[in-house]
Amino acid sequence: MADDRHNSTLSAAYAAKRPEEVAAIYDSWSETYDAEMSVAGYRHPTICLALLARHLPRGAEPILDAGAGTGLIGEWLAIAGYPRVEALDISQGMLDKAAAKGVYAALHRLALGGPLPFADGAYAGIVSAGVFTSGHVGIEGLDELIRICRPGGVMVLTVKNTLWQAGFERRIADLVRQGMIAVVEETPPYASMPGEAGTVPSRGLVLRVG
Ligand SMILES: C[S@@+](CC[C@H](N)C(=O)[O-])C[C@H]1O[C@@H](n2cnc3c(N)ncnc32)[C@H](O)[C@@H]1O
Repeated sequence: MADDRHNSTLSAAYAAKRPEEVAAIYDSWSETYDAEMSVAGYRHPTICLALLARHLPRGAEPILDAGAGTGLIGEWLAIAGYPRVEALDISQGMLDKAAAKGVYAALHRLALGGPLPFADGAYAGIVSAGVFTSGHVGIEGLDELIRICRPGGVMVLTVKNTLWQAGFERRIADLVRQGMIAVVEETPPYASMPGEAGTVPSRGLVLRVG
């Protein structure tokens, strides 16, 4: 059954220990990801889109969709009036699906968590939905995203509660104290997939880069 497969694929992704493992899991999931996430009532892309549109003016460019997957957000960003959106993901299979939607100006097969080959301040906005979560990207992925977002630019992230409590919240507070970022908005924790039993809640975070 699709639901069972989805549960086990996601559990494997959450338990992944190395980036290549995560990439392989998503490569093989890419074909059915959109349909299965739709059945699960997956909400991160919608919530991220709402937050971005509230804080980043229409027409701002370029935007980086970090951990873009199959491009669920990219489709809507174009409709919402952001003319140039680029996708970054570790999984070629997911990027191929995103490419087929024809909504990204560029696709980058790269791993978050290490150095990124983009200039300081390269992006007006960054969105990252469902990526700062178990077995994917942790706090080590944050500083590079801040570096490549321009001063005054907006970052919208979802952060799973387990990560939040294991140091993410502390790191955000440090960065605020250092004047690197301001927290513009934080949602209450919510279930990203209401159709799945036992989902650990996540929060949406809007950061303005200093
Ligand atoms: C749950 S999916 C979310 C995809 C998309 N943002 C969405 O909301 O549908 C997580 C995505 O993060 C990507 N990912 C996981 N670890 C990554 C890493 N270290 N660097 C880049 N992408 C990564 C996976 O390949 C996958 O496409």
